[in-house]
Amino acid sequence: MKLKIENVSKVFKDKRAVDGVNIELTNGVYGFLGANGSGKTTLMRMLATVLRPTSGSISFNGEDIWKMDDRYRNILGYLPQHIGYYKHFSVEKFLSYIASLKGLNKNKANERVEELLQTVNIIDKRKVKMGKLSGGMKQRVGIAQALLNNPKILIVDEPTAGLDPKERIRFRNLLGEISKDRIVLLSTHIVSDIEFIAKEILIMKDGKLIEKDTPQNLMERIQKKVWSVQAEETDIPYYQGSYKVGNISRGTEGIQLRIISEEKPSVRAVNVSVNLEDLYLYYFDEEVGA
Ligand SMILES: Nc1ncnc2c1ncn2[C@@H]1O[C@H](COP(=O)(O)OP(=O)(O)OP(=O)(O)O)[C@@H](O)[C@H]1O
Ligand SMILES: [Mg+2]
Repeated sequence: MKLKIENVSKVFKDKRAVDGVNIELTNGVYGFLGANGSGKTTLMRMLATVLRPTSGSISFNGEDIWKMDDRYRNILGYLPQHIGYYKHFSVEKFLSYIASLKGLNKNKANERVEELLQTVNIIDKRKVKMGKLSGGMKQRVGIAQALLNNPKILIVDEPTAGLDPKERIRFRNLLGEISKDRIVLLSTHIVSDIEFIAKEILIMKDGKLIEKDTPQNLMERIQKKVWSVQAEETDIPYYQGSYKVGNISRGTEGIQLRIISEEKPSVRAVNVSVNLEDLYLYYFDEEVGA
């Protein structure tokens, strides 16, 4: 299977939200990182055929996805970042409704709804109205609806937003498990979501895809740029003004700053092993993925 994105751009009035993106996706999980407003959702909406590119093309196994039309949507699962829910529907009714929209016959739909209520751990909420669910519970229903048709291509836009840590781990493991024979594209600001399951990480900045590589390779590239520095409380403003500072830990051994820098930030600095959070900080100094 191959989902090919060729020179895709999307322009809203004067805003180039997605700018000349080229990617080929095959089976496995792709972790999609980028600061707020970098164009992730816009690209994902085009891959879900919700939005048409201003220019460029998207094909699945060589066939244009808009020409495939329903044949494409039949193999697609999509969890939008912001989903409008039917608040008077119960969880169960909502899922059955989406199943019917996706063309599943009644028996198959019932079976799948049952399975997925278990998968996302929401059986006890089946009769609860969508409008009464907590954010994380709604998100679980969103994940379930994306999986109803057992999609070959799964596009999930910040699927773990609002999930508690236990459910996040559960979801991560589920994706890892099902990704063997499908294409999964997952956007997130939480780097631990993709640390272990992503085959590759895609990094988007200002509408452009600036990196696409395995987590290991990306981390290797910044290996000599991540430092730990022991500092005094009064030194912190200096470091924060001059460097990208990550975690500041205050332990029994004093204060340790984690710093991303091309050069050694202080004579006392030592190189430390890189994690994905450092990578995020390296590319996006404006925010650090938790
Ligand atoms: N329908 C629209 N009309 C006009 N501008 C839009 C529209 N949708 C997105 N944009 C703009 O395009 C840019 C990219 O937005 P997008 O939602 O794709 O970013 P994102 O990477 O998903 O951000 P976030 O991490 O906050 O979800 C932003 O500047 C946004 O304001
Ligand atoms: Mg988004």
